[in-house]
Amino acid sequence: MNAIWQIEGPRRALITGASGGIGEAFARILADEGWELALVARNEEQLHRVAGVLRAKYRIEAHVIALDLGRADAGQVLEEALKERGFAPDVVINNAGFGLCGAALELPVAEQLAMIDVNARALADLTLRFVPGMMARGRGGGVLNVASLAAFMPGPGMAVYFATKAFVLSFSEALAEELKDKGITISAFCPGPVRTSFLDRSGMRKVWMSRLLAPMKADKAAWAGWQGFKEGARVVVPGILGHLAVAGARILPRALMRKIAAFLLRPRKILERRRTRREDGETK
Ligand SMILES: NC(=O)c1ccc[n+]([C@@H]2O[C@H](COP(=O)([O-])OP(=O)(O)OC[C@H]3O[C@@H](n4cnc5c(N)ncnc54)[C@H](OP(=O)(O)O)[C@@H]3O)[C@@H](O)[C@H]2O)c1
Repeated sequence: MNAIWQIEGPRRALITGASGGIGEAFARILADEGWELALVARNEEQLHRVAGVLRAKYRIEAHVIALDLGRADAGQVLEEALKERGFAPDVVINNAGFGLCGAALELPVAEQLAMIDVNARALADLTLRFVPGMMARGRGGGVLNVASLAAFMPGPGMAVYFATKAFVLSFSEALAEELKDKGITISAFCPGPVRTSFLDRSGMRKVWMSRLLAPMKADKAAWAGWQGFKEGARVVVPGILGHLAVAGARILPRALMRKIAAFLLRPRKILERRRTRREDGETK
């Protein structure tokens, strides 16, 4: 049993990637439950917008920490910033992350390494940095790590992103087992496509996957992740399509899953050509 759900006083959650998308949705859900929040991302203006809305609507305290989690010293900087504010997190939601579509050898190497830093390195750093404090305080709590359905298969066309999410899933599951009797929950949250700026930023909107798997709303995804975490689930997969994809990845031969993923991550060139022709026709 996790003690954190019985605590009546202030409960504190650190949410990374809270300047928009799923992170902002998590922030709204926790604010509605009365959690004091620390919101982290690079875009300070967006963080202040989110924090302002939460303070006004839910009357909670929301701290803003603008930080690039790709920095090697990000964990240390964040820990110090939280200490200054007297903020000891009971829960960490490691949600910050980004993806890049394209052939690994054609994408910029530096950006792909930065992806490993944010999606995997910073996530492991914050988990390992804040869990000992949670255990020492004896209030329970834990870490909700945002992985993806991508964690269950290799992703030709998005190779590094899929690999970072496989890391998140494997790391979270293993740590959950190590901590199983310690009153701390570690969950990996594995959504399929979600309607956020991720789809444009990563280029996923231009591949078959986002056409064939209808993206979920961010609020719905975050709600499913948070409920799963509260129930103590080690792996949380929202939606029927998500469950089918995971079942497929477990049953089908890996070689076939590679091919399916490669197809889903292919650019929708035919559709692009059709659209261009249509637009050309309209302008003639
Ligand atoms: N959308 C999907 O289809 C989908 C599916 C499965 C899993 N996910 C995962 O869900 C998580 C949230 O993504 P989202 O869909 O909500 O995308 P999003 O709207 O693009 O949000 C990503 C968040 O991560 C933050 N972030 C990115 N790079 C950062 C850095 N270097 N340092 C600090 N913060 C950084 C962004 O803030 P700043 O830009 O302000 O730094 C933003 O708040 C990611 O881990 C993603 O991999 C998304």
